[in-house]
Amino acid sequence: MKILGISGSLRKNSLNTAALRAVQALLPAGHCLEIAGIGDLPLMNEDLEQDGRLPEPVERLRAQIRGADALLFATPEYNASIPAPLKNAIDWGSRPASVFKGKPASIIGVSPGALGTSRGQYPLRHTLGVLSVQLLTQPEVFIGNGGQKFTDEGLEDAATREFLGKMLETFLAFAARVKLG
Ligand SMILES: Cc1cc2nc3c(=O)[nH]c(=O)nc-3n(C[C@H](O)[C@H](O)[C@H](O)COP(=O)(O)O)c2cc1C
Repeated sequence: MKILGISGSLRKNSLNTAALRAVQALLPAGHCLEIAGIGDLPLMNEDLEQDGRLPEPVERLRAQIRGADALLFATPEYNASIPAPLKNAIDWGSRPASVFKGKPASIIGVSPGALGTSRGQYPLRHTLGVLSVQLLTQPEVFIGNGGQKFTDEGLEDAATREFLGKMLETFLAFAARVKLG
C-alpha cells in the first residue's frame, strides 16, 4: 500500500508531522508512507489556473494524491476546526476535477492539550465525506497530552505506539478492501 501522509501543520516541530513519522516507522514491510509538502501551495484562487494548468506545487500535490493508494491525515485543530493550510490543500485537490473521489483515508491528530483534536476532526470528516473520500470510521485517533508523548526523538509513549500500530492494521485492511471495490 502506497500511503500519502498529509500533515495539517506547517510547523517544523509539529506533533502531527511527528505522528506521521511514527507511523512510517510502524508500517509493516511492503507498505510505504510519503509525507506531502503543503507549505508552498498558494492560497486558493481560481484565477491561478492558466490554460488548464494549475501552479506547480498544486499539480505536484494533486499527482501525489492521484498516485496514492490511501491517504492519512494527521492534523491539529485550529479554533476547533480544520487548520487553514490543510483546508487550502484539500480545496486545491477538489477542483477542477477532484482527485479525492473514492480514496480510502484515515485521520489522526495530536494536541498538547487533553482533547486530542477531536473537535477539529469532525469538520474534517464532513469535508472529506462531501468529496467522496472513503473514511475509516473507527478507531478514532485523538492523541492528547502530545507534548509528553513526543520528544525530539519522536514518539516515546509505548501505549500510543501500540494504539497507532493497531489502527494501522485496521486501516491497511480497510484500504485494501476499498481498492478491490
Ligand atoms: C491558530 C491556532 C489555533 C489553535 N486552536 C486550538 C484549538 O482549538 N484546540 C486545541 O486543542 N489547540 C489549538 N491550538 C494549539 C495547537 O493544538 C498546538 O499549537 C499544536 O501543537 C499544533 O499542532 P502541531 O504541533 O502539529 O503544530 C491552536 C493553535 C493555533 C496556531
